[in-house]
Amino acid sequence: MHDLDLIQAETDAALAAASDLRAWDAIRVGVLGKSGRLTALLKELGRATPDERRERGAALNRLKGSLTASLEARRIALDDAALDARLASERLDVTLPPPPEPPGLIHPISRTMEEMAAIFGAMGFTVGEGLDVQTDWFNFAALNIPAHHPARADQDTFYLPGERDGRPLLLRTQTSDVQIISMLSQPPPLRVIAPGRTYRADHDATHSPMFHQCEGIAIDRGLTLGHLKGCLTDFLRAFFGLAALPVRFRSSYFPFTEPSMEVDIGWNRRTGDIGGGGDWLEILGSGMVHPRVLANCGIDPREWQGLAFGMGVERVTMLKHGIPDLRPFYESDMRWLRHYGFNPLAPVSLHEGIGA
Ligand code: DAH
Repeated sequence: MHDLDLIQAETDAALAAASDLRAWDAIRVGVLGKSGRLTALLKELGRATPDERRERGAALNRLKGSLTASLEARRIALDDAALDARLASERLDVTLPPPPEPPGLIHPISRTMEEMAAIFGAMGFTVGEGLDVQTDWFNFAALNIPAHHPARADQDTFYLPGERDGRPLLLRTQTSDVQIISMLSQPPPLRVIAPGRTYRADHDATHSPMFHQCEGIAIDRGLTLGHLKGCLTDFLRAFFGLAALPVRFRSSYFPFTEPSMEVDIGWNRRTGDIGGGGDWLEILGSGMVHPRVLANCGIDPREWQGLAFGMGVERVTMLKHGIPDLRPFYESDMRWLRHYGFNPLAPVSLHEGIGA
């Protein structure tokens, strides 16, 4: 066989046997590479006479063309085969049952409480706990709400039989008892938030007899309204994930704070969107801890100041996630939980942002 035909035949045989692009490339280098067989023959041309060179040069060029064509054809075939193999391995059989769901989901109320702990935790607050069954001293009297104060009538209280420390027992109507518990159990300065259950004798589409609040209290020297406003503005912007969320402080009244402020955030009344829209929505209560409340806990109001706040956990959860109805929060309906629940394997991360 002519030497050039031999190169073509051997190359074709090797290409037919090559099963992947690596083998293909080795063959290409073996003939057309710097020290490939064809390249070597082209180099020898320089030593031939002009007549020989013309004839041999033309033959070598034809060989180069046909080798290049063989190589290209095989490369395309190998590429196609690689794609087919990949498609086969990634094939999805839609007739199979869906992959198993995670065994459980985090309830939106738990998720919101975790988010509150993460945001306030970054500001130096620890998480405290009160008691669901409380005396009227912690729930009312110590908070500057004496026996016949009209504020007691605002909160329809479940009283329980029996007493503790000579005081009537009740289901706490607010998490504000944690203000008193925190001040009695640790010396100032202190920073505590307390998410937990609260109870009021109220039951309709927008009220549940059991619901959740989150209380916050900070006691320190030199605390001012400025600290309260900064703390709550930062919290609300982080919680709703809106860096420019409009926040408004409106003077109000609570017996245990002086001055007291209700806090509003910007929203669109028509669409329900949080943020712009020009309307205001009340979202939490707050104020500077009343000097009498500090004194009730043995803290000298001339030396220490306090800021406090409280908010409804269901309420902020509904607003953040567009949940229209309060009642399913407590119904353990798996369809609702699957829709609104959170992946337990994706915990709250301040770093990744926890806004909606
Ligand atoms: N406890 C109040 C309520 O249930 C909320 C509240 C208002 C808590 C002002 C506070 C506060 O700590 O300072 O409506």
